[in-house]
Amino acid sequence: MSSLEKIAVVGQGYVGLPLALAAVDAKFNVVGIDTNSAKVEMIQSGISPVEDIENTDIGNAIRSKMYEISSEFNSEDNIDIFLICVPTPLSENHQPDLGILISATKNVGNVLKAGALIIIESTIQPGTTRNTIIPILEKESGLKSNQFLVAYSPERIDPMNKKFNIKNTPKLVAGLTPEAAKKSKEFYSKFIDQVDICDSLEVAETAKLLENSFRLVNISFINELAMFCHKIGIDVNDVIKAASTKPYGFMPFYPSVGVGGHCIPVDPLYLAEAAREAGAPVRFIELADEINLAMPTYFVGRASEMLGGLKGKKVLVIGVSYKPNVADIRETPVEALISGLKKSGAVVSWHDDLVKSWNGENSVALGSGFDLVILATPHDYLDLSLLGSTPLLNTRGSK
Ligand SMILES: NC(=O)c1ccc[n+]([C@@H]2O[C@H](COP(=O)([O-])OP(=O)(O)OC[C@H]3O[C@@H](n4cnc5c(N)ncnc54)[C@H](O)[C@@H]3O)[C@@H](O)[C@H]2O)c1
Repeated sequence: MSSLEKIAVVGQGYVGLPLALAAVDAKFNVVGIDTNSAKVEMIQSGISPVEDIENTDIGNAIRSKMYEISSEFNSEDNIDIFLICVPTPLSENHQPDLGILISATKNVGNVLKAGALIIIESTIQPGTTRNTIIPILEKESGLKSNQFLVAYSPERIDPMNKKFNIKNTPKLVAGLTPEAAKKSKEFYSKFIDQVDICDSLEVAETAKLLENSFRLVNISFINELAMFCHKIGIDVNDVIKAASTKPYGFMPFYPSVGVGGHCIPVDPLYLAEAAREAGAPVRFIELADEINLAMPTYFVGRASEMLGGLKGKKVLVIGVSYKPNVADIRETPVEALISGLKKSGAVVSWHDDLVKSWNGENSVALGSGFDLVILATPHDYLDLSLLGSTPLLNTRGSK
């Protein structure tokens, strides 16, 4: 593989931008494609839209002349490797929605040249690469599938994880053919320490869904257990700590107001749909999804119990992003918590210095003067002593 190979990373978000910059560091010539022109301008002017990436990282990449970003492909570009990293969300009726991925794949098909490698990184149902992506590429390019290479490689990025990053997180790859798998492994191995080849596209697609479904099921289970612990007057965290002394066969998960972000509450539903279609439903996922979606309402009930009703009560919700120490509010369960409190008549303010402004409202300062504080997402920077003696409902576990 020559260092002159040209890479296109389609989608310059949480997954695609770090990947593009890692490939630049490995001396690949990279074009980032993103249909959001505001994001393109932002990155072009050296401003990072992603917390894990510093402005200086973008500036350095642009100055190296190895990275450029554009809202569309230039048909003159001779791209050797396409990496597709666009969102795969749920539709309004809570079903997998491949619309964005299909549109991005069509754009790739339009500029695809024989011999190129296309790697899908977006999370998808098992069978999607083989049955949906490849036919689109063939149709749009006029090529046959044996004239290009196709692989699937799930992304495992964990935003703001200080220990595991692109380089030291093992990467799975699978190819339609052994050649596609080999070439994908060669590419990723330039900037990732460990790359493991799976036996088929479907194994790699399903592995990603297993990883995230495992988290959803276990977090939902611990949330149910936390409700039970509250009922009998013990702190679920004390129980988890005690169980964690077992050196094998146990892994701790922690309670919360529910899971959020673009992956954990979404990806398992891709697996659930594929399983239903195959006539082998994975009922754990459906139950876990139900429990997860009910958590905000449960905490509205707890708040109401503490205050003897919520009408006219001043409630401060602390932390609105979906997990501690990030500003990402995608699929945050705190949105449902706030709207549930408001529907019950509470006067709700929120504090989150990382998110600052959201849904047309601004973060308020931490202080006293509230009837109740609900700790939803405990960022490290928070100084709860500023709340004085205001009663606190801790969604992360308390008696
Ligand atoms: N964020 C994570 O932590 C994470 C982790 C693992 C896997 N994933 C998966 O990776 C995929 C991408 O997720 P993300 O978090 O990077 O999403 P994102 O929303 O941060 O970024 C996606 C980008 O794609 C752009 N885009 C949309 N349509 C496009 C098109 N047709 N052509 C080019 N660009 C287009 C958007 O403007 C956006 O900038 C998803 O399938 C997700 O499930 C995400």
